[in-house]
Order: sequence, then C-alpha cells, then structure tokens
Amino acid sequence: MKKSISGFSKLSKRKKLRWIVENFFKDPENVMRELMSHWHQNEEQQRVLDGFSENTISNYVLPFGVAPNFVINDKTYVLPMVIEESSVVAAASSAAKFWMERDGFKAKVIATKKVGQVHFSWSGNVDKLNSVFEELDAQLRIDVSHITANMENRGGGILDISLLDMTHLEDDYFQLKVNFETCDSMGANFINSVLEEFGRSLKTFVATNEGFEGKEKELTIIMAILSNYTPECLVRAWVECPVEDLGKNGDLNASDFAQKFCKAIRIAHIDPHRATTHNKGIFNGIDAVVLATANDFRAVESCGHTYAARDGQYRSLSYCSVENGIFKFWLDLPIALGTVGGLTKLHPVARRSLELLGNPSASQLMEIIAVAGLAQNFAAVKSLVTTGIQKGHMKMHLLNILNHLGANEKEVSETVTYFKDKVVSFSAVRDFLDLIRGEKKKDINLLTDQKASS
Ligand code: MEV
Repeated sequence: MKKSISGFSKLSKRKKLRWIVENFFKDPENVMRELMSHWHQNEEQQRVLDGFSENTISNYVLPFGVAPNFVINDKTYVLPMVIEESSVVAAASSAAKFWMERDGFKAKVIATKKVGQVHFSWSGNVDKLNSVFEELDAQLRIDVSHITANMENRGGGILDISLLDMTHLEDDYFQLKVNFETCDSMGANFINSVLEEFGRSLKTFVATNEGFEGKEKELTIIMAILSNYTPECLVRAWVECPVEDLGKNGDLNASDFAQKFCKAIRIAHIDPHRATTHNKGIFNGIDAVVLATANDFRAVESCGHTYAARDGQYRSLSYCSVENGIFKFWLDLPIALGTVGGLTKLHPVARRSLELLGNPSASQLMEIIAVAGLAQNFAAVKSLVTTGIQKGHMKMHLLNILNHLGANEKEVSETVTYFKDKVVSFSAVRDFLDLIRGEKKKDINLLTDQKASS
C-alpha cells in the first residue's frame, strides 16, 4: 500500500519531490538528482512551465523535430513536430519532398463553427418554451454581452442559439445548442463562460416570465460545457497529380501503385480495425504539430475520432480516387485550434513553433495541421503497399536499441552499416554488438599479450 499525504499541494516543489522519492523509490538521492536535472536552467522559464499544471516535480521532455519542404497552397513551410515515435518526422519529410515535386499540398478551411451546450431538465409544456424562445434568445445575448463584447470586436461571438427537445430520449431533457465563432482562439474559456452565464439566465427567465406557472417556473441546469465535437469547424487537405507522375514506387509502376494505394484507403473505409490504425497514422502527423504549437491534442483526437464514426461506423478520415488519369488523395478533418490564448504564446517552444510557421492564423494552422496528417498517412500507406513498414521503422528503431544497449559512436556506425541489408531485431543487434565488443576485447588482449611478451 502506497503512503498517502494531506496538504501535498502546499509543499514547495523541492519538498514534494523529496516526499515522492523517499516514499516511492529505492534510491531516493539518485532519483531526486535525476529528476532535478530536468528542471529548466532558467528559473523564470521553469516558473512559466510550472504554472501550466499542478504538483509539478520535474519536466517531461519530448523531442522537438522539424520536417522541411512542405509546400502548402504554394508556400513553403518547415513543420515543427513534437513526437516520441521514431520514423514519424522522417516519413513526414519524405512525403513533403515527394509532393513538393508534384505541385505540393493544397488545403482549405470549409467552416470554423465551434459548439457549446447547456443541458437542462424542465417538466413544462415545450410549446410554451418554443413560443417565448425569441424573447429568451435576446435575453440570453444581453446577459452575456459583458463576456462577448471583446470577441465581437475581433469579429467573433455567438452565431446562433437553438432549443432542442430531447424528451424522447430522456425524461424532461432539453438542450440549448449554441454555435460560436472564436476567431484565432480555440475559445474553450470564452465558450464555457458564456454557457455558464446562459444557464443562470435561463433559470431566471423561466422563474420570472409571466407565461410560466407552477412547476414550469423551475428548471435545473444539469451542465453547461462546450462540445469538442465540431464537425463544422472543418478543413480539407489534398494532393493530386496525373497518375503517371507518381512514378515507380517500390516494385510498382505508377498505375499499379495508384490502384493499390486507393484499395488500401478503401479497406480503411470498410474495416474498423484497419481504420483505427490508418487514422492513428494520420494522428501521428496531426498530434505532433498540435503538440508543438501547444494546442489541445485530447480535444483534437476526440473530435477526429467522433467524426470518423459519424455514419455509425468508424472509418478512414482520408479518401482516394483515380479518375480520368488523375490520382487524388484527400483528408477532411474537423479540428478546433488556437494561435492566440491558451498556452500558444506562453509555452517557450510553442511560441517558436508558431514563429517558424510564420505566425499563422487559426485557420491557416488548421490547414497546416491537416496537411501534416495527410502527409503522414500518404507516407505510411505508400510504405505499406510497397516495401512494408518495418524496413524503415526498424532502421530507426535500431538507433533506439543501440541506445538501450549503451553503444558508443563507433559501435553505432558499425552496426548501422552491418544492418543495412539485414532484418533488425533486438536479439540480432545485441548479438552483433556482443560480437564486435568480443572481437575488440580479443584484439586488446592480443595487443596486451604481445606487449607483455616483447
Ligand atoms: C504507426 O505509428 C502508424 C502506422 O501503423 C499507420 C498505418 O498503418 O497506416 C504505420
């Protein structure tokens, strides 16, 4: 049984860490030193990072990589990518280069609507509520005008409010469904503040409106919260070229490659098992840029997966066609992002990621991130239908294995050369390292023996 503690959050960071290492680790002093070695050298920056969360005891570091040569709507980008999986940045870079030579990626934001809901219980006559809805709508807008004024100045605000009768699904259940435009911010705080105020206004409205009587004057707010499902905050990214321009890929000529690639995409529309892995590959690219720009990857993921299941079956987010000799590959992605607010400008590296991208608007970032997903998907499926994924993956994984086995620079170089045309596995790499380390030992022993006898 682990120890418990009260008042942990009140302890200083150092004391928190001390309590953790002393109670949960076998070698407290070393673990304390090790976790402290990840503290930022710059105290101010560390304070900023600590401010993002609670009970922080150290920093969890992830690699910050870049994928160059992304041509998107005729402009060239270097994409910042934060990801722990080897091959993802390499795959993105290779897809970027492939399409750079074929007119690049295109992307277009289709809509930017965000959604919020006030869920409430009410046992009155719905026709009465509908009959005063216009009045209610106006009152709700007035009651939140102190919250919406700023957003309205930026060109956003509340788009529309609708009343949904959900009593066929749950007794007394109604909903206010609200659409918002939040410009360059993701808008979660703005939306939630508006919705909570709507909840209070709604209660007062039915309690004081003379059209209601008895029980109709009582209304219970169950919850007021944004929805992370934003199917109308949608972007499309695509690539296209004449089939023959695809060139030879692996052993496949351009036409066979195009057909096989499209079949692979169709399979991901038919089979949920494949669709899940297929979309995981898409999110390899999306999440990496979402994280690099300090956006909310959980929101992005949950939205994308709901969208992928919008017709009742989980399916591929990407599509492919070969028609009239033209290969087309595209992705439709609902994604709510911000380039102002949240952590986007506070996180020291995210700020640089956005600068690297030319400080895009939220809509431009939607386009860039959709392209990152499409590029990743293209690279993965291209490998899958030609050489298979393991060839590239294991070459990258080789470096992780060598790291794990503590190989020095020379051993890394010798092992990488040796495995150029061989199948990589942990045991094969370990055996090869043992062999070269053994041979070196033999050479050293030989030299010492020679020295001793001379
Ligand atoms: C691995 O992280 C992602 C892939 O499995 C995606 C796919 O199968 O399409 C390679």
